[in-house]
Amino acid sequence: MRVAVLVAARPNFVKTAPLIRALEALGVDATVVHAGQHYDNVMSEAFLRDLDIPWPAVNLGVGSGSHGHQTAATILGVEQFLCESTPDAIVVAGDVNATMGGAIAGAKAGIPVVHLEAGLRSFDRSMPEEINRVVTDHLSHLCLAPSRDAVENLAREGIIGERVALVGNCMIDTLLEKLEEARARRVWEKLGLRAEKYAVLTLHRPSNVDDANKIAELVQTVLEAATPFDVVFPMHPRTAKMLRPSAISASRSSRLMSIEPLGYIDFLSLLISARIVFTDSGGIQEETSVLGVPCVTLRNNTERPITISLGTNHLGGTRRESILQVSKEALESPYPNPKTIPLWDGKSGTRAARKVVELIEGLTGRHNWEDLQQ
Ligand code: UD1
Repeated sequence: MRVAVLVAARPNFVKTAPLIRALEALGVDATVVHAGQHYDNVMSEAFLRDLDIPWPAVNLGVGSGSHGHQTAATILGVEQFLCESTPDAIVVAGDVNATMGGAIAGAKAGIPVVHLEAGLRSFDRSMPEEINRVVTDHLSHLCLAPSRDAVENLAREGIIGERVALVGNCMIDTLLEKLEEARARRVWEKLGLRAEKYAVLTLHRPSNVDDANKIAELVQTVLEAATPFDVVFPMHPRTAKMLRPSAISASRSSRLMSIEPLGYIDFLSLLISARIVFTDSGGIQEETSVLGVPCVTLRNNTERPITISLGTNHLGGTRRESILQVSKEALESPYPNPKTIPLWDGKSGTRAARKVVELIEGLTGRHNWEDLQQ
């Protein structure tokens, strides 16, 4: 049995690593195809190494560009790969442009498409990721959902039955696997910070970072909200390009520490000992919930409502008053307060891999009911 696993951007590596390992454990030949949407060492190779992902068989070199460019280049590259190697299925993960491109290429080539992290909805079509999620789910033969709300979202859109499996959160498999290594790394110490006396900030959503004034204001508000803590800000390349040097130097006298993006284990190490986290990332809302660190999401919506209802996430919006108010509440909440979310238990990769095998066996008539009972 041969499965192609498409990766493209930073969060994809974290999600697919446990699935790739679990597929291999079941004897499936998993080939990693890198779309190359993220290409800097620190956004790509460092993650492959940190997460022990097999080296990609091919890099499609999609790179930066418009949404159309990234999607179209992925379709062309994946189509060629699929025609040449004819795997039994292709797995695409998350919600980046290459995810949708891979799903379109697979569906058109008649190769079963599996979507890992299916069913998340922010109900905000101005987010490029929301369009990618909807299109990918609708083209997928198998939607692997991380949580019950995701299954319900899929059902509302008519995606039901054998097309859907609730497997839990593969990103959390990776977190649990790397937790001890990250704890031992004590990255905060190397940065001259005191454990539980600093905040972490990440920003990369176009709606937050593509306007230089808006991002400068957001950073100032976060500094205010995080008082008296230092604020460490590993900057995504998109953000670094937009944030005017003046905005950073204006804050330099204060407690802001802007640094290069970190590798997976270093960043996890930073999260573990943070007092509070401010972010517009999706994955970090999940990671902080499991770690028990309060998170203020700098967006008006989230496609991960379970991190609010069962986790440590607080929706802060993007206006100063609301961020200050919500941060106060977040800092007053119990700390640390690790949360247990159903099926976010470190076994999601295994459940997901079994479902992929089941799909292929069903499609090829190689169904073995005894195996499926296990
Ligand atoms: C992409 C995803 C987003 C995901 C994020 C994780 C889409 C629509 N967006 O956003 O969902 O949360 O990745 O990081 O797919 N750049 C570099 N080096 C790199 C990669 C990017 O310098 O290795 C720069 C490029 O100038 C590029 C910009 O960052 O134009 C944005 O990269 P892109 O891949 O378009 O989207 P992200 O903002 O990273």
